[in-house]
Amino acid sequence: MSHERIVILDLGSQYTQLIARRIRELGVYSEILRFDTPAARLRELAPKGLVLSGGPASVYEHGAPRVDPGVFDLGVPVLGICYGLQLMVEATGGKVTAAVAREYGRTACRVDPTSPLFAAVPQDTTVWMSHGDVVQAVDGRFRAIASTSTTPFAAVVHAERPLYGVQFHPEVVHSTHGRQLLAGFVRGVCGCTSDWVMSSFVDEAVAAIRARVGERGVVVCGLSGGVDSAVVALLLDRAIGPRLRCIFVDNGLLRLGEAQEVEAAFRPRLGDRLQVIHAGERFLARLAGVTDPEVKRKRIGHEFVAVFKDAAAGVADAHFLAQGTLYPDVIESVSATGGPSVTIKTHHNVGGLPAELGFELVEPLRQLFKDEVRRLGEELGLEPHLIWRQPFPGPGLAVRVLGEVTPARLELVRRADAIVREELAQDPIHPTIWQGFAVLLPIQSVGVMGDARTYESTCVLRVVESQDGMTADWVRVPHETLARISTRITNEVRGINRVVLDITSKPPGTIEWE
Ligand code: XMP
Repeated sequence: MSHERIVILDLGSQYTQLIARRIRELGVYSEILRFDTPAARLRELAPKGLVLSGGPASVYEHGAPRVDPGVFDLGVPVLGICYGLQLMVEATGGKVTAAVAREYGRTACRVDPTSPLFAAVPQDTTVWMSHGDVVQAVDGRFRAIASTSTTPFAAVVHAERPLYGVQFHPEVVHSTHGRQLLAGFVRGVCGCTSDWVMSSFVDEAVAAIRARVGERGVVVCGLSGGVDSAVVALLLDRAIGPRLRCIFVDNGLLRLGEAQEVEAAFRPRLGDRLQVIHAGERFLARLAGVTDPEVKRKRIGHEFVAVFKDAAAGVADAHFLAQGTLYPDVIESVSATGGPSVTIKTHHNVGGLPAELGFELVEPLRQLFKDEVRRLGEELGLEPHLIWRQPFPGPGLAVRVLGEVTPARLELVRRADAIVREELAQDPIHPTIWQGFAVLLPIQSVGVMGDARTYESTCVLRVVESQDGMTADWVRVPHETLARISTRITNEVRGINRVVLDITSKPPGTIEWE
């Protein structure tokens, strides 16, 4: 089924994906295309509206990215954001210069309440600015519909055509009525009716899987314990039921109780269509004596492929492999400089399964963002603890045991990690946490317990907030919670006598320690 869609032309903004997510939150399907997508191609796609993203370039720079001028003649409403606004104005005869006073951060803005863009925005609002260039003059065809103390053209509209532009960023939460503005554009200006909802996506995805798989054999699906592969499995179960086989590899590097939880959730649904492979010993044998983080990752990856390959080879009539590839992994993005170089990210959810496995791929989540996958999981009746599970790296606890991974050291970090997660789950700050876990360091230090000297391991608390894992900040966990975590770990985990807190953001640190 085809949906009403808004196309976003990506001019290199760090916020492009956020624009797409915000529009989808309004129930309107949006997709991101390269800035140089020809107008003729856009005409074929018949979007209800176009958004030109921001970007790091200046329109008056040589080689700055430009859209096909034909996009302004399609008769389709356009919303230019920041650089997108400047580009639109410049392309239609206006003038952009470097701003005398640059604007960054929250800025008071007065809007024209008669514009459909601002139908649900108060006349005085706060917007998020981040620009060094400014529209200095527009030819008579554009007029200002919002201004700030330093920017007379904070928002503009074309006199005859449905071309709108905003200098600020409505997609970021710091623009207090950004959501209402985007709603004003996609509903008020473009006339979208919000037909993108996960309940109808289920039926469409099921139909699409059936059409793709037909009668051509069995689909093998690797379950990882994460939400993406779980949702893929549930969709496939609905679509092709008896011809689904799920393989769950317990690599011995999972969190406390995790393998049991996955089996408890899926065994009742799948019966003997679920194969659980306990391969912990194989993985640990490959990790013996290894301390280098990259060697650890590679060995775990190779072992995973070997184990999975063996298991898949035992599945009669296997023809397809299901993967939980998400939309951010398939967007063709432009480089940060806005140049034409293309990066197509490929991503394999379950440990990086190579093409050599020789299966055709089924990727039913390719259109979705993570938050949509979670909503889909709810729709399909997946248990909340599986839906809201925090991200967990493929190499598992092995990259949270610095130094050699031994069964004893794994057990230390596994038990400390369980305490960290249990305590954080009870703290009011829990919803703000992206990941909170323990890392075991390869050092021992002196302590005292009772009257005895101890010489035991140190563990680190790593608690971060993040939107997507690309950048992160450490969470200011209340001292009382930190105290409880520290006391419980040192009391309950024999072998750890010291707990320290990681207060490094990303960058410069990464979230995981290896
Ligand atoms: P870093 O440590 O690079 O991690 O800041 C960013 C996010 O990615 C997760 N992560 C992984 N996820 N396979 C995964 O599926 C991996 O090998 C892997 N390594 C890191 C990490 O937990 C964080 O959320």
